[in-house]
Amino acid sequence: MKAVILLRFCSMVLAAQTVNSSSCSASLRSQFRKDCHPEPEASEDICLARSCCWSPSKFPGIPWCFEAIDECSIVAAERIDCHPEPGANEATCKNRGCHWCANENPNVPFCFSISKEESDCTTKFPINKRVDCHPQPGASKEICEAKGCIWCSEMIANVPWCFYLVDGPYGYTLNDQPEKTAQGWRLMLNKHDSISLFGNDISPVAMDIEFHTKNRIRFKVYDPNNKRFEVPLNIDSPPNEAVDPDYDIEFLNSTTLYFRIIRKTTGTILWDTSLGGLIFSNQFLQMKTTVPSTLIYGFGEHEHPSFKHDMNFVKYGMFSRDQSPVAFSNLYGVHPFYMCIENDFNTHGVLLLNSNAQDVTLNPQPSITFRTIGGILDFYVFLGPTPENVVQQYTEAIGRPYLPPYWSLGFHLSRWGYHNMNVLKNTIERLKHYDIPHDVLHGDIDYMERQMDFTYDKINFAGLPEYIEELKKDGIHYVIILDPFLTKDEPRGTYRPFELGQEMGIWINNSDGVTPAVGKGWPPGDSVFPDYTNPTTALWWIQMCMEFKNVLDYDGIWIDMNEPSSSQQSRCAKNNLNNPPYMPDINGRILAEKTLCPDSKTYLGNHYDTHSLFGWSQAISTFYACQNATKKRAFVLSRSTFVGSGQYTGHWLGDNFSRWRDMHMSIIGILEFNLFGIPYVGADICGFNGEPTYELCLRWMQLGAFYPFSRNHNAFGNKEQDPGVFGEKFAAVSRSVLKIRYTLLPYLYTLFYHSHVSGNTVVRGLMHEFTSDPQTHGIDKAFLWGPALMITPVLDEGARSLSVYFPEASWFNLYTGDEIPVSWLKKFVDIPAPLEIIPLFIRGGYILPMQDPARTTALSHQNPFGLVIALDEQEEASGSFFWDDGDSIDSVEKEVYFYAEYKFTDRELKTTIIKHGYIAITDQSYDTIQILGLSEKPTMISVNGKSISSDRIEYHSNGKINLWISEPLSQELTISVS
Ligand code: NOJ
Repeated sequence: MKAVILLRFCSMVLAAQTVNSSSCSASLRSQFRKDCHPEPEASEDICLARSCCWSPSKFPGIPWCFEAIDECSIVAAERIDCHPEPGANEATCKNRGCHWCANENPNVPFCFSISKEESDCTTKFPINKRVDCHPQPGASKEICEAKGCIWCSEMIANVPWCFYLVDGPYGYTLNDQPEKTAQGWRLMLNKHDSISLFGNDISPVAMDIEFHTKNRIRFKVYDPNNKRFEVPLNIDSPPNEAVDPDYDIEFLNSTTLYFRIIRKTTGTILWDTSLGGLIFSNQFLQMKTTVPSTLIYGFGEHEHPSFKHDMNFVKYGMFSRDQSPVAFSNLYGVHPFYMCIENDFNTHGVLLLNSNAQDVTLNPQPSITFRTIGGILDFYVFLGPTPENVVQQYTEAIGRPYLPPYWSLGFHLSRWGYHNMNVLKNTIERLKHYDIPHDVLHGDIDYMERQMDFTYDKINFAGLPEYIEELKKDGIHYVIILDPFLTKDEPRGTYRPFELGQEMGIWINNSDGVTPAVGKGWPPGDSVFPDYTNPTTALWWIQMCMEFKNVLDYDGIWIDMNEPSSSQQSRCAKNNLNNPPYMPDINGRILAEKTLCPDSKTYLGNHYDTHSLFGWSQAISTFYACQNATKKRAFVLSRSTFVGSGQYTGHWLGDNFSRWRDMHMSIIGILEFNLFGIPYVGADICGFNGEPTYELCLRWMQLGAFYPFSRNHNAFGNKEQDPGVFGEKFAAVSRSVLKIRYTLLPYLYTLFYHSHVSGNTVVRGLMHEFTSDPQTHGIDKAFLWGPALMITPVLDEGARSLSVYFPEASWFNLYTGDEIPVSWLKKFVDIPAPLEIIPLFIRGGYILPMQDPARTTALSHQNPFGLVIALDEQEEASGSFFWDDGDSIDSVEKEVYFYAEYKFTDRELKTTIIKHGYIAITDQSYDTIQILGLSEKPTMISVNGKSISSDRIEYHSNGKINLWISEPLSQELTISVS
């Protein structure tokens, strides 16, 4: 037996839930899949039309389209006891890879396997110890055993059939004593001379562990002898290790080295990786860790069926791609970040800072396997312990979200295919006619001449510049779209953007490093692609954007297709970059699909490494271009994003569909992008592809009024779907819900301020605020604005009521001020939701700043303010208010803003002005104050020491009190209720 060396270093102390089983689960074993489509050419649509389950499997012989056979239908005689010792429960049972079906007869095993082979495999090779030895498709017993790996079929679908064991003599072990560094420790690791999955294994490798801050630890595995690609994100790496951090680390040198990160206060193991699972070869890097619970959120960008992940061997690829949201596909951006709620409700987050094509597999043990095909393994762990703390710490590392201009919080309208000025003007006019709040108009590619950047169509959109000026006078801002491809085929001397770029040498090049790589975008001819990782490109882009500002007086820039997308399949040479030995689980399974060849060259390295950084680098240049051109706070909206993009840009969730399910998916996407530090996010209201019904579009207008980025956008060729086109009733509902949004904008803006300064989320799941209530962990159809406003949209056709979960708190109906009865707390309750209403609830304990709404924020910005004081059980509440001119550059950093905090306690509201840097605030005042949840009706109410007359007070039978006052915002307000 090998000695176990337990190493103890400094603060390091040296030294596994529920399984989601739905009947269609991807992990359902083949025995439980009755083939529902035995003939060839099954597809998801045909399968679903047969009312069967669709769940592709990478293993041969497993039906993808099946009827699920109930595990409980296995009779006692066929059950082999899989957990003969006491203490079995569903989680421990499934961990063994066995079936669970409780029954009344204690002599029939609840936890069982059904064949001898299955039972042998299960006992001999526990699932959580398996490391996939053939992660790519096409495994067979022969290939597997030829590699020296173990083959064991008939296990749970998607569990590796070809594997080696995590604690066997594989992976890496320590080759010397760890070396103390100023920031932590350095370990040199040697590879066991055993299995090699894809060749070119690197040994030794170094592992640096850096104790960055009290709650942030980094560990990176790299090649000490050869520099490899590293993501150029500047995460502050303090010179000395943090004092008294919240974590311990632990190493266990056995047949292979184990590395653990432990939360000091609870002893919870946050990260536990056997370096037997570590593979560090030139184009295949892998790490597998256990995680302390199955409550995992994040990873992107994908369309996830639920906010809380299904951990049943679900695999997600990440590589930026021009791809409409479809389940399981890699989409536009890359965010290898997850958040985990531990079993005792502490929360931590983990980032793998890597931009190469990669995938993660979520396993039910629970564990996560990371696989990437380049760069280094650079992990950051954030200890929280609350979900908000995790996002704050994450954005402290990767960059805080930018503060959006105030106007961009208004309603946006867009359409690809206005065709001409008349259609455009009529659309805008009808919104105005119906008095529907509207702040921003987007110009999609049809404003351009032949879809070429920095041009406009002088025939169909003749008069556009003048019209933009008119809109501006009316308080409406104009955002232009720009694509990242420039045609190279215009006659010489006619298309300056290309020619200047050519002169400056700023394109992505072919593998020779000198000839521009060519692809196909919207413009005629072939296109070249600016390389935004090159600082010279930023100069060119800023110059072009500034020049174009003189042509179209735009206010913001929408950057699209920046994965980057090319519609022509690139013909790439056969080499290791274009055809890596392992292909992560990405759509098409070809890196060059819909983009440039991976061996193309960018300033920072091969496109192979920098592909997913394209949108991120473009957003940085565009942020400064927009700022320079407009001389105002930048507004950038990017389709492709990466870790840290939130500092420069917002995001929309791409080319969704006009379907009910897409509304639900949009909430999940918005919650996720708030975890990723990109809180300014929304989905195309009413859907981009396809045409919405009246009811779908109406419900979507209601939901979209609570997207941080609220834009109705539509694809080419579809019918109009703006809120003015469906007639009077539709317009009235849209107007009223957008007026609620506009009333709440000071609250929303204040949330963005907190996000910018402290990294808070703007939209958050109920689990963020009520983490210790397990019911909230899976809720993703309702969401919160900050801590205080719960939005519960209708997501089903024909529904006129809604099941709403009320976590334990005081809640008030926003429309009536009625308090939710205590008997409804911690329960799902049916709430009426007629077509005109989206149910909204204010949480007691919070004070929300508001403002009288208007048709644009330009008008509402001058209106009087109000406060809603929603009291908790103790009749207390607090809140804050941030205000500035709404569009100056860096108003927070330059301290030209106003910031106040409110506290209501002992029947008195007090304001503390913390920053008085926005002089124009002196012209503004409070007019309405609403108090909710006061138990005793007051006999007297005074404002700033003076009692107010009864005609300025309105008492409602539900306890709501409205006050009308006229007090300056710039002075501290005191309201006493006696
Ligand atoms: C794709 C974008 O995702 C979509 O929003 C836009 O309308 C089209 N490109 C045309 O520019």
